[in-house]
Amino acid sequence: MELQDSLAVITGAGKGIGKAIAERFSEEGASVALWDVDLDSAQNVAEALDPSGNKAIAMKADTTNEAEIDNALSEVLKRFNRIDILVNNAGISRHKPLEEMTLELFEAVIKVNLTGTFICCRAVAPIMKKQGRGKIVNIASLGGRTGRPGVGVNYAASKAGVIGLTQLLARELGPSGIYINAIAPGPILTEQTRQYPPEVFATWNVGRAVQKDGLPEDVADAAVFLASGRSDWVTGVTLDLNGGILIR
Ligand SMILES: NC(=O)c1ccc[n+]([C@@H]2O[C@H](COP(=O)([O-])OP(=O)(O)OC[C@H]3O[C@@H](n4cnc5c(N)ncnc54)[C@H](O)[C@@H]3O)[C@@H](O)[C@H]2O)c1
Repeated sequence: MELQDSLAVITGAGKGIGKAIAERFSEEGASVALWDVDLDSAQNVAEALDPSGNKAIAMKADTTNEAEIDNALSEVLKRFNRIDILVNNAGISRHKPLEEMTLELFEAVIKVNLTGTFICCRAVAPIMKKQGRGKIVNIASLGGRTGRPGVGVNYAASKAGVIGLTQLLARELGPSGIYINAIAPGPILTEQTRQYPPEVFATWNVGRAVQKDGLPEDVADAAVFLASGRSDWVTGVTLDLNGGILIR
């Protein structure tokens, strides 16, 4: 068990990649606090993981709302008295070509993907500093690594911002024992992406080296590594996870 006795907060854990991360962390012995704007979905995941509520709790926590995040964090500390791991997974995408990209749409995606990540990092840092240790994993995207068509300038900029934030905070927080890394997944088959026809999913995977499709569990396995003691010489890194779509 790689995460025995640790407490992990996972944002956007009600479905998709965040749900898979919560499940894998739980299998690895962590207690998990599932934060999501959609409380019902987070509750379903938490109840399936631990109906007693001792090792998995769901909380309504919008990562763009500072007060809500502060309250959720206080609640976690009251229950568990520590926070070892934060996974900033909550994210949205709203693609439009530039001529249809309103300022509102641009800022909405930046707000969740980048500002929300910043708000959560800033909230947990003082606690991890006091503990002398902590691990933060940010979910970026292949779309923030390369100028990929079809992701939207708002999404690409937000995820490139997450990578920059990760690098800077690794330097700032490293001396306090806080590790912070990012994962940049390529296209992942989730409930949401499965709604697209397979030929559309295939176009997102053009140039992939391996035949296997990307699954939420692939991201979850990488998150376990970056959240565990196995990665204690790794900080400020963005782990490309895309079956070889991008090799450099
Ligand atoms: N699916 C992919 O192909 C893919 C590829 C690369 C990166 N990503 C990134 O992985 C992360 C998860 O993606 P997914 O495909 O599982 O998404 P998803 O839409 O299936 O799930 C996202 C979850 O986040 C929650 N959420 C949204 N805004 C929130 C907020 N402000 N505060 C708290 N919770 C919020 C939603 O309610 C939902 O439960 C995102 O950051 C996404 O950008 C996804």
